[in-house]
Amino acid sequence: MTTPRQTLDRRLSVAPMMDRTDRHCRYFLRLLAPRTLLYTEMIPAGAIIHGDRERFLGFDPAERPVALQIGGCDPGELARCAALGEAWGYDEVNLNLGCPSERVSQGGFGARLILEPALVAECVAAMLEATALPITVKTRIGVDDRDDYDHFAGFVDRIAGAGVDVFVVHARKALLSGLSPKENREIPPLRYGFVHRLKRERPGLTVVVNGGFTAADAALEQIGPVDGVMLGRAAYDNPFLLAEIEAALHGIALPDRAAAIEAYADYVDARLAEGVPLWRMTRHVLGLYRNLPGARAWRRTIAEGARRPGATGALLRQSLRLVERPERIAA
Ligand SMILES: Cc1cc2nc3c(=O)[nH]c(=O)nc-3n(C[C@H](O)[C@H](O)[C@H](O)COP(=O)(O)O)c2cc1C
Repeated sequence: MTTPRQTLDRRLSVAPMMDRTDRHCRYFLRLLAPRTLLYTEMIPAGAIIHGDRERFLGFDPAERPVALQIGGCDPGELARCAALGEAWGYDEVNLNLGCPSERVSQGGFGARLILEPALVAECVAAMLEATALPITVKTRIGVDDRDDYDHFAGFVDRIAGAGVDVFVVHARKALLSGLSPKENREIPPLRYGFVHRLKRERPGLTVVVNGGFTAADAALEQIGPVDGVMLGRAAYDNPFLLAEIEAALHGIALPDRAAAIEAYADYVDARLAEGVPLWRMTRHVLGLYRNLPGARAWRRTIAEGARRPGATGALLRQSLRLVERPERIAA
């Protein structure tokens, strides 16, 4: 008997993205979307075990609900990381089974693990043993020539057999050689049909679809055929899109961009005093006014200004003058 794990609202989530979804990004997104499930960047198990824990695991409770994504293939290490994730206050631990980068493949983890279902089952079983948090996986529909539906479903079944019941699926396969990680997010075709069929045939699993969603309607339409939709690049490049989807999903009011920036500027000043470089935090807001008058000036002024010595969160507050404030215009 497995113990029931906490149920999170997984209808909308923001994908784990290295060099994007760090704690500052998550704090900012949380100001725009109070309920969306957020994921960390992938953190290699070795970094968590041997590295600076505060650097790799520290976050602000205001970011919750947050899932910690781990990369690794050693059951003992992954179990330890899962326990640490719980101790540090995360809401979920997710195992990366989708990263095709050469470095990650050489380390024996990421998308490569789709070829090793028995090892993955061992890994997730050890993680489930080590924590009461939900253990989930983020995978692709296949890898290299293992790209038919039966292989995908068989892989899922093997992991579900070990006790995992939440599957986030990037709906394209990965090619382990010949494509860069970026190309691997663009070239293999999206096959949402695989993900929908998985949910139809295995209704007891929680299935979240990911890959290629750039518009609110298309994202929201997924909730029904599957349990949730995860946005990556679109949420980062156009964070207000996330706010729009969340507001539509929950029937809540849209946030005020300027109010979010004012609050983020306070956060930025507090972190600046702790030694975090300004640009590391301000880079996450560059897309906030996308498609609106002043968006270019907003981007440029902040990107350039954040590297100037002595700059602070005031840069964000002052840059609000450059953009039209659609919330005020509408009011
Ligand atoms: C810059 C960048 C970094 C990424 N890093 C990770 C990662 O750390 N872990 C992971 O599972 N996927 C990672 N991905 C893949 C995304 O989570 C997502 O699966 C992919 O971008 C497809 O979703 P999208 O079309 O909504 O962007 C990354 C994607 C990007 C663009």
